[in-house]
Amino acid sequence: MTVFQSLSTWRQERLCQARAGLTLGFVPTMGALHEGHLSLVRRSRAENDRTLVSIFVNPTQFDDPKDLAQYPRTLDSDLEMLQREGTDFVLVPTEMDLYRDGFRFRVTETQLSKTLEGAHRPGHFDAVLTIVLKLLQIAEANRAYFGEKDWQQLQLVRGMADAFFLRTDIVACATVREADGLALSSRNRRLTPADRQKAAQFYRTLSTAPTAEAAARALHQQGFMVDYIDDHEGRRLGAVRLGTVRLIDNVLLGDCS
Ligand code: PAJ
Repeated sequence: MTVFQSLSTWRQERLCQARAGLTLGFVPTMGALHEGHLSLVRRSRAENDRTLVSIFVNPTQFDDPKDLAQYPRTLDSDLEMLQREGTDFVLVPTEMDLYRDGFRFRVTETQLSKTLEGAHRPGHFDAVLTIVLKLLQIAEANRAYFGEKDWQQLQLVRGMADAFFLRTDIVACATVREADGLALSSRNRRLTPADRQKAAQFYRTLSTAPTAEAAARALHQQGFMVDYIDDHEGRRLGAVRLGTVRLIDNVLLGDCS
């Protein structure tokens, strides 16, 4: 496994691969890796000759400075996990290199990004789309892998790839869950043991409540702070808070498994 920090060294490597006709799969992450991320890496390995993973905690997409400060940074164990998965390349770029423009240039989406998660996190999705565009341009991959766990992010990245004629196919991967249904997330490790137990009710309630309003009421009664629960295009999406930890999830409606 080769780890790159320099963008130009990576680009030289990618040029050699392209000349040799090798396909590349790309998995962008913010690190603190878990089985959810690794499922994307496995899918990429199955579908491409080479796999690149990027690790970059993107400061511009955090609307809350405390959330950015508390975001887990576990580079050594991330690299070990990626090595065990047989990852070919890891890109760990610097903020200086990625934001040479000081974030003067941004991608703005005017509709979906303003609703649901976007209504609670102003500017979040513009920052996500901007960093994803940069990373896709740098990776020059044939396919890029995104989790359905962040359903709105996935739809927006797909929309951007389509709108700007990007040459990378966007591949959606199913949400990986704990045995009790909780979606794997880097933030779960900050839950207290009692909140971790309670957190399983989030997925269960999203999946089984008859309406979004009923789900919100039930979660509120169980002690969750509910940011939103909404049904949108056949999915039920929600965000809740337990203490200082914010969880998001979504389920296909009519799918009560
Ligand atoms: P991050 O939260 O690290 O997630 C990286 C990728 O892993 C995303 O596509 C996310 O949807 C996927 N993922 C996370 N948890 C998952 C789970 N339980 N099951 C399946 N996939 C899961 O999402 C981001 O980083 C950033 O916004 C990023 C796209 C890297 C831009 O900064």
